[in-house]
Amino acid sequence: MKVLDAEFTQGFIRMANDGWEQGWHERNGGNLSYRMKESEVAEVKDDFSNGEWKPIGTTVPNLAGEFFMVTGSGKYFRNVIIKPEDSFCIIELDDKGENYRIVWGLVNGGRPTSELPSHLMNHEVKKLKTNGAYRVIYHAHPANTIALTFVLPLTDEAFTRELWEMATECPVVFPDGIGVVPWMVPGGREIAVETSKLMEKYDVAIWAHHGMFAAGEDFDLTFGLMHTVEKSAEILVKTLSMTNVKRQTIKPDEFRELAKDFKVSLPERFLFEK
Ligand code: 13P
Ligand code: ZN
Repeated sequence: MKVLDAEFTQGFIRMANDGWEQGWHERNGGNLSYRMKESEVAEVKDDFSNGEWKPIGTTVPNLAGEFFMVTGSGKYFRNVIIKPEDSFCIIELDDKGENYRIVWGLVNGGRPTSELPSHLMNHEVKKLKTNGAYRVIYHAHPANTIALTFVLPLTDEAFTRELWEMATECPVVFPDGIGVVPWMVPGGREIAVETSKLMEKYDVAIWAHHGMFAAGEDFDLTFGLMHTVEKSAEILVKTLSMTNVKRQTIKPDEFRELAKDFKVSLPERFLFEK
């Protein structure tokens, strides 16, 4: 089967375009990666041709030999649906998890996203933690979440609690909370290490003054997670634009009641008295 005809490719394209339509991907902003199943590799491997091995920029031994669909560096999410073969690629990792080669896509040249170290280190953490269930890592630049990194303390506690409060569904959608990475230079191993440490605990990491990373099992869950966090951030931005004092909000005991009914466990460290 041709790569472009495969169901997972269609899912990848749709998710990228949904992100574009949300306004989260100005210019080349954001990147997306998907850890392919063995059956999916088998389905499309006749369409592959091997490029040269190149260093990943970090080491991910637990992903050795795996294949990933990933957006290209400098490529626009706007164009993913219009010229997919120019906008993203499939890469194979070597048997040490140190090098990659392009086996499909980026037909006009280029390389995988500059955030490849963050994507792969996050994939490695999630693969190990979820027994292989998580397959998607998504980075976007959603404006309301970024705006909050200029006014809230850059702590996991502040972001988790504030975003939980702004929409009742939030503690159910991301019960483990949200991590925050202080401002760092993007695109390298250092920020990848910090982000992947947060991915040990959370499915969402916010990069101060930059954007967000979300991890999940499939395209729908991962996109839905990013969408839910950003919607909650939008409500907080709207509220703060009217007043800096909330007249009423959801209280710690009310979160505890919600947790019981929805059968989620909410860490007590986010349920502090204000
Ligand atoms: P790439 O074009 O290299 O994916 O970079 C976009 C981005 O958002 C960097 O953080
Ligand atoms: Zn970015």
